[in-house]
Order: sequence, then structure tokens, then C-alpha cells
Amino acid sequence: MTKRTRRQFLHDSMLVAASAVYVAPALSGVARAQTTSPNEKLLCAVIGCKGRGGDHIGAYAGRKDCEIAYIVDADEKVGQERCASVEKRTGRRPKFVKDMRTVFDDKSVDFISTATPNHWHALCGVWAMQAGKDAYIEKPISHDIPEGAALVAAAKKYARICQVGTQCRSNPAIQNAMKFLADGGIGQVRLSRGLCYKRRKSIGALGDYPIPGEVDFNLWSGPAPYTNPKVTRSQFHYDWHWQRLYGNGDSGNQGPHQTDIARWGLGINTHPVSVIAYGGRLGYQAERKDPNYVDAGDTANTEVAIYDYGDKCMVFETRGLSVDNSADQEINTMFGSTRGNKIGVIFYGSDGYLVQRTYTNCVAFDLKGNKIKEFNGGGDHYGNFVQAVRSRKSEDLNSDAYQGHLSAALAHLANISYYLGENNRVSPTEAKAILEKIKSRDDNAETLNRTLQHLKDNGVDLDKYPISMGPLLQFDPIKEVFTNSAAANEILHRPYRAPFICPTVDKV
Ligand SMILES: NC(=O)c1ccc[n+]([C@@H]2O[C@H](COP(=O)([O-])OP(=O)(O)OC[C@H]3O[C@@H](n4cnc5c(N)ncnc54)[C@H](O)[C@@H]3O)[C@@H](O)[C@H]2O)c1
Repeated sequence: MTKRTRRQFLHDSMLVAASAVYVAPALSGVARAQTTSPNEKLLCAVIGCKGRGGDHIGAYAGRKDCEIAYIVDADEKVGQERCASVEKRTGRRPKFVKDMRTVFDDKSVDFISTATPNHWHALCGVWAMQAGKDAYIEKPISHDIPEGAALVAAAKKYARICQVGTQCRSNPAIQNAMKFLADGGIGQVRLSRGLCYKRRKSIGALGDYPIPGEVDFNLWSGPAPYTNPKVTRSQFHYDWHWQRLYGNGDSGNQGPHQTDIARWGLGINTHPVSVIAYGGRLGYQAERKDPNYVDAGDTANTEVAIYDYGDKCMVFETRGLSVDNSADQEINTMFGSTRGNKIGVIFYGSDGYLVQRTYTNCVAFDLKGNKIKEFNGGGDHYGNFVQAVRSRKSEDLNSDAYQGHLSAALAHLANISYYLGENNRVSPTEAKAILEKIKSRDDNAETLNRTLQHLKDNGVDLDKYPISMGPLLQFDPIKEVFTNSAAANEILHRPYRAPFICPTVDKV
């Protein structure tokens, strides 16, 4: 079987048995959510409870106006432990279920809050809203662009409150800094640079690993292919972030926090018209001191994406290798440290620059580097959601489905360019020649040089392991399709496995 037909076969086999598709009970929760009095507790279900889910649980368990009625997790051990911790804190033990559809069938539940892996976000959100539940959905809200569009359509069609887990949107430090930019605090801003310089070590060798006994792997896999009885990473939970069947790499993990702010500060409420990405999953052979080492991840750990918005431009840099003692003096100075992760956004204005240094701190400087203003303070993103659930006004949300969709899409666009160019390995000279031809408000060659230096500093032999260069993809922001690449459109939307099929916009 050729590669093409094998892929098609997999695709077709996932779509069989479409008649078995789950249909959420239509708007079963509406009546309750709309009539709940301010004194009555809102009943919620937390779906996906391990890492980030713990934060969701803490937020609702700590509120007098909410009660966690269900803990949902495909891993029984995780779920039961979370039930016990809620009982200890609140005196009431939530029901534990493995299958989220139980929650959608329960009319008493007002909203769900989900921190499942990325491949589940959109389907979980669409099912919830079809059943009349409001939904807090972790970032990135989608695993691909059509899924994000489906969530936006579902929130609108079913008049549901849908908040996305980009919590910086509720932090006064960021809100006030973005207002300062919009008011011209550093003049005209046409370029923003998001940074995800966050150390990510190898997740271990690619191999065959058993699925933990407590996990219902059919439910865990959901819309993704069912690889039972094995997975290819040694640590089952969390490390799926770096496998593209489930995760979106760090551009879709840490990335949406920063691309969201980078887009917000530019005042952009649409998709870019083009993207190009380059990078690779590099450096782990040096890290493991084994030239033949193959890491289990297949997303880029090093990626630079250039987004063109016509008169504005965004650059997003992901670096998973060490940035300790990096040669980027300018960035070290902006973040006030030569060592450690640097996660934030830099806005370049005609009269100065502004740096988002943490989730609760931004600093504006004039062109000479003198501090003009500092912004501090955190907020309550869950609280903002709960307030909107009560008011029934999507406008009250700090981060609605549309904003989440636009920011998640930035990761997807970059990854599509990267995946298409994965085998297009280029020398530094070839990369420079390609990037110099790309329209951008950034100095593309300078960003490339810094990236290459960073790789060399981490022991990457660029002759042996060259970077990959993706194609420049033109994108229609309204139709949400690529206009110059059939290959890119082919991987725009994932194949599904019945009955876990996320509907398209016209079918939500
Ligand atoms: N907003 C933030 O700051 C922030 C921080 C960390 C993670 N996140 C997001 O939270 C999500 C979860 O990430 P994580 O690191 O906690 O992952 P994780 O692997 O630690 O936890 C995911 C949990 O979801 C469960 N799960 C999987 N499929 C399920 C299903 N069908 N039904 C119910 N439960 C299911 C798993 O068993 C696991 O317990 C990701 O999308 C991530 O991007 C957001």
C-alpha cells in the first residue's frame, strides 16, 4: 500500500460507523442555567483532572457560589484522588465518571470546565454546548483550525458562555498594558515578538510502552487514532503535548498565552494572511550524548513563525533547549536575566518598547531604554467566567471562544508550515536566502542568526542536523483555507474516529 493510500485507508476507517456518533441531548441544561438565582449554587463538572485540571478544581472548590458535582477523568486513579481532595476541602464528594457524556446527559449540570489533552477540547466543548452547558475550555481551544471555528459557531448557535483558558486576559497587569499600547503609549506598534524560551528536555526514546491499567484508553484517545495496546512515549500523561496526534508542541502549549497577548497588543482581531515557520526537534542527540538517539516527540522544540497581517507583523519564537547564558544580550536585558526561561512578549513601537515579562508584570521603556511605566497585578479568570455564566452575556467574558480560536489558530498555522517543510532541511545560507525574500517587519536574517547561534550553543551540529524550512503559506482569514497549497489544506483538519467526531461549522 502506498503512503497516500495507507493514509486514506486510515482516514476512511476512522469515519466508518458514523451512525454511532454521539448526539448530545439538545439544550437540556438551558432552563436551569438561565433561571439559577444568584444565591443558588451553580453545579459544574471538571473534565480532565490531572495537571491543569487541579487548578480548575481548586478554583471552583474555593467558591461559595459553585459546587463540583462531577469529576470526569479517563484515568480512574486520577479521578478518585481528585474526588477525595474535593471532599476533604468542601465536605461533599463529587460523583466520579470516566465518560463525559454522562455529564452532558445530566440536566442539573450548569457548566463544564475542561483540561483534557488538546485533541479533546473542541469535541468536549461542542457536545457540552449542544447539551446546554456553558464551557470553560483550556487553551489551545482546538487541535486544528476547523475545530476552533466549530466551537465559535456552537457558542453562538446555542447562546452559551464559552471562556478560553488564556488567563492573562483577566490580569490587570496585562489589561492595563494593552490599553497603554492602544492609547499610543509607545507610539505606533506594528511588530510584536512572542517568546517561549522554556526548557523542555527529551521525553525519552521513541518506543512501545504499555498503557497504565487505570486509564480507559478508548476514552482517552477519543477523536485521535486508537493505538491500543501501546503508546510510543514512556510517560503516559503530560508528554502527549509533544506528539502531534494529541498535542501541538510548545507553540500550541505555552504559545497561545503569548500569541494571544502579542495579537491583542497589536489590536488584531483576525487571522494573518500568511505564515512561514522553520525549526526542528533538535539537540536531544547532544543532550543524550548519542548521535543516533530518537526522541518520542514529533513536534518542533525549536520553531520560529512569522505571521503577516498586512500592515502589522508578529513573530513567535519557541526554544526548548537551554537559554542559560544565551548570547541574546538585548533579550536578556529586557527580561532582566541572563539565566532561565524567558516567556513573554515584546512590542516594538515608534516611541519605545513594552515587555510582557510575566503573567502579572509588563514594563514600558522609551527608545533609550528608560523605564516609562510598569504594570502589575493578577486577576480571576474563573471568576470572570462564573460571572458571565450568571449574567448570560458573552460580552462579559475576558476571553471568549473567538479570541481563543484566533490565538490557537496561530499555533496551527505555524505547525502546518513546519510539518510540510519537515523534510526540507536547509543550510544556514539557504535559510537566509529564503527568509530575506519574505515580507516582514522583523529583521528575518537577524532572528535566524540568533536562532542558529542558540542551537550551536546547545551543541547542535547544524551540518548533521540542519533546520527544516516550511513553505510560505497564504491564508484566507475569512474562509479559513490556504490559497496557495493543496497540501496545507489537506492537513488543515484531522480525521476522526467514530463516534468521537467533532462537527464542522455548518453541522454544529
Ligand atoms: N491555562 C494554563 O495556564 C494551562 C496550564 C497547563 C495546562 N493547560 C492545558 O490544560 C490541558 C491539560 O494539560 P495537562 O498538562 O494538565 O495534561 P495532563 O495529561 O496532565 O492531564 C490531562 C488529564 O485529562 C484526562 N483525560 C484524557 N482524556 C479524557 C477524557 N476523554 N475525559 C476525561 N478526562 C480525560 C487524562 O486522563 C488526564 O488526567 C492542556 O490542553 C493544556 O494546554 C493550561
